[in-house]
Amino acid sequence: MTVPLIDPFQRAISYLRVSVTDRCDFRCVYCMSENMTFLPKKELLTLEELDRMCSTFVGLGVEKLRITGGEPLVRREIMTFFNAMSRHLESGALKELTLTTNGSQLERFADDLYAAGVRRINVSLDTLDEQKFADITRWGRLPQVLRGIDAAQKAGMRVKINAVALKDFNEAELFTITEWCAERDMDLTWIEVMPMGDIGNEDRLDQYWRLSDLRRTLGEHYTLTDLPERTGGPARYVRLEETGQKIGFITPLTHNFCESCNRVRLTCTGELFMCLGQEDMADLRAPLRNYPADTAPLEDAIREAISRKPKGHDFDYSRQTVDGRVTRHMSHTGG
Ligand code: GTP
Ligand code: 5AD
Ligand code: SF4
Repeated sequence: MTVPLIDPFQRAISYLRVSVTDRCDFRCVYCMSENMTFLPKKELLTLEELDRMCSTFVGLGVEKLRITGGEPLVRREIMTFFNAMSRHLESGALKELTLTTNGSQLERFADDLYAAGVRRINVSLDTLDEQKFADITRWGRLPQVLRGIDAAQKAGMRVKINAVALKDFNEAELFTITEWCAERDMDLTWIEVMPMGDIGNEDRLDQYWRLSDLRRTLGEHYTLTDLPERTGGPARYVRLEETGQKIGFITPLTHNFCESCNRVRLTCTGELFMCLGQEDMADLRAPLRNYPADTAPLEDAIREAISRKPKGHDFDYSRQTVDGRVTRHMSHTGG
């Protein structure tokens, strides 16, 4: 029997988020600067290395694998990796294989993803207004993403929309986005904007729309019932009684959820970040590459990293300043 991964705060680590590329075909203003420099290819883990890395985590008790980026579907030959991970679904070791995507490539990949065993995906979408969508993603085009969402639903996958709550940007769309998700039988989760990357402090505070405020506004139009259910992520859910739909809130700022954290994040170069909101990480690429035929050194490095998992992030806007910010971009660790 392998001993499960337990961190210093007695939290079991059963969820691995894997960023397979730092590249993206969008340039969302809260995530990236317009001129990003990306990693040279030789720095990246190969698909075979990603397989070995993820399989080692699965062997140590990880049950949920979420593939992220950048945009995961722009990584070359990425379906080879999804197909390889299917074997862990088939063996029962993995309970869920999923991804978080901007939706731009879904039209092309939806059927293949379903065939690989993906049943539920999260699509990031902050607005339904074409012009606003082009403004916030800089390079993205809304119709392409909407076609992608159609394709995903048609392929048989459940779609959850992730929207970053941004003051003066999508505030006025709260009800339109809610209704659109209800019509299409999609869940919706709102996320508080976090201080990551080299985006100016003033911009962050100007952008910040508290989910406690969003919830109050929603409650003026709908009857909200708190739901006990969890998807293994940080969202807390309510049901809108009038439509029956589920709305999630991810509230790193107004309600810290770190005490129930069950996840760590692997970057495309093999760094393991034990917390989204802290700088500490462990290099897993060295033990992976230096011992191609022996998994023990990699397992030891994973256990050592988990023994350093911090209690939580220090994000805080309450003093009208941005505290606890992290310099790396969200695309580095995939959210
Ligand atoms: P579900 O399986 O649907 O529950 O997914 P999830 O919420 O775990 O994953 P998703 O990729 O949809 O996460 C949405 C966003 O929530 C991420 O992009 C992050 O912005 C934020 N988030 C997820 N996990 C954490 C976390 O551990 N800490 C913080 N601060 N934010 C997180
Ligand atoms: N704060 C909150 N969410 C963010 N995302 C990207 N940058 C930020 C940020 N600074 C979200 C994206 C996507 C997910 C991967 O992370 O919108 O849903
Ligand atoms: Fe790309 Fe997602 Fe970052 Fe937007 S938020 S630039 S879609 S990685």
